[in-house]
Amino acid sequence: MSNTLPQPNGWPGKTAGLSLCLSLSILSAFTASAEVAKSEYQQRVEALLSQMTLDEKIGQLTMLTGYGATTGPVKDQAALEKYLQDGQCGSLLNVYGVEQVRHLQQVAVEQSRLHIPLLFGFDTIHGYVTVFPISLGESASWNLDLIEQSAHIGAKESAAAGLNWTFAPMVDIARDPRWGRISEGAGEDPYLGSAIARARVRGFQGTDLTAPDSVLACVKHFAAYGAAEAGRDYNTVDMSERKLRETYLPTYKAAVDAGALSVMTSFNELNGTPATANRWLMQQILRDEWGFPGFIVTDYTAINEMVAHGSAADEADAGRQALNAGIDIDMVGQVYLKNLKTLLAEGKVTQAQIDTAAGRVLEIKYRLGLMDDPYRHCDLQREAKTLLAPENRALARQMAAESFVLLKNQNDLLPLKPGQKIAVLGPLADSRRDLLGSWFGHGAWDNLTTVLQAIQTNNLSGKTLYAKGCEVEGDDQKGFAAALKAARQADVVVMVLGERGDMCGEAKSRTSIDIPGQQTALLRAVKKLGKPVVVVLMNGRPLALEAENGLADAMLETWFPGTEGGSAVADVLFGQAAPGGRLPVTFPRNLGQVPIYYAAKNTGRPMIPANPKQEYRSYYIDSPNAPLYPFGYGLSYTKFKYSPVTLSGNQLSPGSSLTASVTVTNTGARLGEEVVQLYIRDLVGSVTRPLKELKGFKKIQLQPGETKTISFPISESDLTFLRADMTWGTEPGDFQVFVGPNSRDNTVAAFKLTAK
Ligand code: NOJ
Repeated sequence: MSNTLPQPNGWPGKTAGLSLCLSLSILSAFTASAEVAKSEYQQRVEALLSQMTLDEKIGQLTMLTGYGATTGPVKDQAALEKYLQDGQCGSLLNVYGVEQVRHLQQVAVEQSRLHIPLLFGFDTIHGYVTVFPISLGESASWNLDLIEQSAHIGAKESAAAGLNWTFAPMVDIARDPRWGRISEGAGEDPYLGSAIARARVRGFQGTDLTAPDSVLACVKHFAAYGAAEAGRDYNTVDMSERKLRETYLPTYKAAVDAGALSVMTSFNELNGTPATANRWLMQQILRDEWGFPGFIVTDYTAINEMVAHGSAADEADAGRQALNAGIDIDMVGQVYLKNLKTLLAEGKVTQAQIDTAAGRVLEIKYRLGLMDDPYRHCDLQREAKTLLAPENRALARQMAAESFVLLKNQNDLLPLKPGQKIAVLGPLADSRRDLLGSWFGHGAWDNLTTVLQAIQTNNLSGKTLYAKGCEVEGDDQKGFAAALKAARQADVVVMVLGERGDMCGEAKSRTSIDIPGQQTALLRAVKKLGKPVVVVLMNGRPLALEAENGLADAMLETWFPGTEGGSAVADVLFGQAAPGGRLPVTFPRNLGQVPIYYAAKNTGRPMIPANPKQEYRSYYIDSPNAPLYPFGYGLSYTKFKYSPVTLSGNQLSPGSSLTASVTVTNTGARLGEEVVQLYIRDLVGSVTRPLKELKGFKKIQLQPGETKTISFPISESDLTFLRADMTWGTEPGDFQVFVGPNSRDNTVAAFKLTAK
């Protein structure tokens, strides 16, 4: 449970110079005997390449979509098997299940000239059949062990279903809740996001890519996809290199350092160049600076989309740009398939580029063990035994409770007392589908336990009434009367409100981050009855909850909690489990505050907290600056008391370390989990520094009355930043250290970094 993480070595920009020609000498991310393994793979790749025709090489660079396509426009599927027989396709997506995978693998292996097996990729994002909470929810657990285990279950189930590649982890930093894909990532912070990225890569790939329960991870979407202007999906990104390197790139690098062997490009342009044509990103940063040894795949038809971007005259030109940028696999768009041969004949791309890209793909196929056993993930019995296995579901239930964030709990309304009359209201209370959120793999919802059902099962000693009240969206208040009638009869009202599961995810941007439809009106009407009200939220993004926070007595954020989500909500409502989450992203008061994040800069005219409306300061005339709930925030069913933070010294010399400590006491009557958080501020720099940056955290458990001393080592590497000259390093001077339960409520100590 101890999650203090050192800053990764070689932050972006620090390392340079792994060779441009890594093509066929890919470094092993895994084995101690890397040298031996490398040369063996290299030899096999070279031998195979020497037998391949140009068409077959281009085939390895071509990914097509199969029968079960769920994303994007499906292109020509009719001749799929013919492509495989002709060696014109090296990978498929959206084909899953042992039967289908085996069949198509057989076509590729047994009916093609060189018998090269296929990669089968799929979006196992937060589970395959056993669906875990959405990634943003999992991130709220701040529990890296559990996050790794969740990814591992996703890998295990995917592998059992024939797959060998997942398009995850999605590590895009996002600070705009309008963007629907904020739900798929780890939130706003590069430090927390990097730790989670590493955990997910470990969970998917394990330590041995040939293990039966390992799948190839794919870091996405490279790069800066989460910074889409105005939160509108696929939109333009324009940002300074400093911001890119400091805030947006660290999570991708963390995943690459953790051994992820594939990277997916993003749909957006970055400073005028679509990511998929961006050689600076793909070659200079990813391969040269970071030494990425795997292959790069585009997002779905991203090469074709360069024409719409206006950076390529036609698809052939787009293909030329993509290959020149270092993109290996063309996902679905068939641009490489249709154009590379001609581009080569015209001298617009080189044979060496094609060989290098094909070699990268083949090498990963060797590393996965596919070349030796193409059917290694095709065991029907294993599939039946693994999917939705009881232990997978148990972990999903535990993870859900750990991801729930208790936002408010006036008068200790939660956990609910037994034997009460409970009115369960709201459009999400009895919904199965919405429990799963977006990108729920191959999850099915027909038999899921809803929140209502789980409450009914738990409340046998009391009585449970139900009325939906209204839909998630729309103007209809006809259901209000029945809801109010149920509420009148109840001791306590539980309202399950929020967004539909399909309101977040790809292409699900919103211009409002309010709870939609008539739900807040229903809450207002119920509140007038004077009954205690618990709001259980389901949503895939930070919402503006000022009104609801004022109305509800207790509020529990459950995100989209997955297959076991209904049961987990009841576990927490009735106190069989405690809400273990802390916000991985700031919850604003209103959309006007967006973008809002804790690691902001001070400005030259900071708002004065004691006089927040002092003129000519950086504030809003119509809203506080502070968010409703800060990053890192979350309550528990008990209370924790923190001592002021102390430091082992007030000077840090390079090469040595300091220790920041607090004691934390559980002063309440229940066992509780707390996430103790360490932030640092560099007071003066050659460029301005954020007011606080997360640099460590520990998730701890305390029995009632128990006290623990929590210590964080601080060394020079924690103080590293991108200096004015664009090199990573430190500068001597004054620093502040903050420790506390979130980014807002903490105590401070100071130290000096001395010169070398
Ligand atoms: C498009 C999405 O942007 C990406 O995240 C996903 O992996 C691919 N489609 C494949 O489904």
